[in-house]
Amino acid sequence: MQGKRILLGVTGGIAAYKSPDLVRRLRERGAEVQVVMTPAAAEFITALTFQAVSGKPVRTSLWDTEAEAAMGHIELARWADLIIVAPATADFLARLASGQANDLLTTLCLATTAPVAVAPAMNHVMWSNPATQANVATLEQRRVLIFGPAAGDQACGEVGEGRMLEPLELVVRIDAALTPTGPLSGKRVLITAGPTRERIDPVRFISNRSSGKMGFAVAQAARNAGAEVVLVSGPVSLPTPAGIRRIDCESCADMLKAVQREVGQADIFISTAAVADYRPARPADQKIKKASDRLDLEMERTTDILATVAASAERPPLVVGFAAETESVEQNARTKLLKKNLDMIAANEVGDDKAFECEDNHLIVLSRTARHDLGHASKAALAERLIALIAEAIKERASTAQRNGATAIA
Ligand code: CTP
Repeated sequence: MQGKRILLGVTGGIAAYKSPDLVRRLRERGAEVQVVMTPAAAEFITALTFQAVSGKPVRTSLWDTEAEAAMGHIELARWADLIIVAPATADFLARLASGQANDLLTTLCLATTAPVAVAPAMNHVMWSNPATQANVATLEQRRVLIFGPAAGDQACGEVGEGRMLEPLELVVRIDAALTPTGPLSGKRVLITAGPTRERIDPVRFISNRSSGKMGFAVAQAARNAGAEVVLVSGPVSLPTPAGIRRIDCESCADMLKAVQREVGQADIFISTAAVADYRPARPADQKIKKASDRLDLEMERTTDILATVAASAERPPLVVGFAAETESVEQNARTKLLKKNLDMIAANEVGDDKAFECEDNHLIVLSRTARHDLGHASKAALAERLIALIAEAIKERASTAQRNGATAIA
C-alpha cells in the first residue's frame, strides 16, 4: 500500500466514529489519505479529527473556492488510486446508484476512473429493504466494490446485518483491491482505439466509421485481467473504462506521438485503432469555399503506427494487430501479420452492417503457429477471449525463456 493515494469518503452514519481509525491504519501502511466528508457526516464527527489523523485539510464542499483553487475536484478524482466510502449510508448508496453528483463526494465518485469501494453501514431493516438491495445490485453491476456489511449488534440496539466492517478488515479489502490479480497482473498494456480524423480545413476532416467499442472492450478486459492499461483513443463518444489511463488524440500523427511516448514502458501493444491510411497533403488554413464544380483533394500516406512500433528498438515483447477486411479476411490478415512483424493479429470482416458501429463482431486470431476462431459474440466477450489468448502467449514465452535460461546454465 506504500505510496498509494486513497480518498476516504465519510457519510452521515454513526459508524463514522470508526473512520479516523481506518485513516490511521491506512497511513501506518504507507498510504496517503485525503478525507472528504458529506454535510451529514459532520453531524457525527468533526473535520478537525480527520485533519489531525490524515495530516491533510478535509474537503467538505464542491463550492469551497479556496480548496478548489488548491486542487480542483476533477484533479482530486484523478489523484486517487482508490475511493473508499466508509461508512456508506443507504442515502449515499441510492445517490451513487442513480448517478447523482449533488455534493463533492458523489461528484468525485462519478469523475474518477479509479476503483470505487463502499462499506455500507445502516440499520438491518434499511439494509434488507428492496430499494437498498436494488441499489447495491446496480452498483455491483458497475463494478463498485461492496465491502460488507457485517452482522451483529447495531447502534440502534437491534441485531442484524448492517454493521460497517471493522477498520482492519477494510484495510485488508482495500489492499486486495489495490493489488490486481489475474493473468496479466504486473503487465503494462498499451492499446490504441477508435478512428483518427485527418484535417481538410478548419471545419472538415476525413475519418471512418470506427466507434472505438472493440478497443475499449479490449482495454477493459486487459484491466480486468490485472494489467495496467493505457488507452490512446481517437475521437469517440465512449466513457473511459474504470481504472484505465486514457490519452485522447485526433490525427494519426497525434496518435503516433502519444504511442511513442508510452510504448517504451509497455509489455504488450494492441493496435485496434482504425487509423487513416491517407491524409490531405495540404490542409487548408481557411475554410475551403465552393468555388468550382469539382474539388480534388491530394492525399498522402500517413505513418503506419503498428508497423513503426513493431520495427522500433522499443518494440514491446508482444505486438498484436487487428485486420479490418472486406474480402479474403484470413489471407489478408496473415499477410499483415508477416509484413508488419506482429506476434498476433485479430481479423474481422468489416462492411456496411459488419463490425463498425455494431455491438457484435466475429474475430479470428492468427499467430505464427496457431489459428483460433473466437466466434461471433459481443465485443466484450470477444475482448475477454482475445485477452485470454494474449495472457497464454505471455505465459508461454516466460516459460520458454525460463527453460532456455536453465539449459544455458546446464
Ligand atoms: N494501423 C496503424 N496505423 C496505420 C494503419 C493501420 O497502426 N496508419 C494498424 C491498425 O490499428 C491495425 C493494423 O494496422 O492494427 C491493420 O490495419 P488495417 O486498416 O486492417 O490495414 P492497413 O495496414 O491499413 O492496410 P489496408 O488498409 O491496405 O488493408
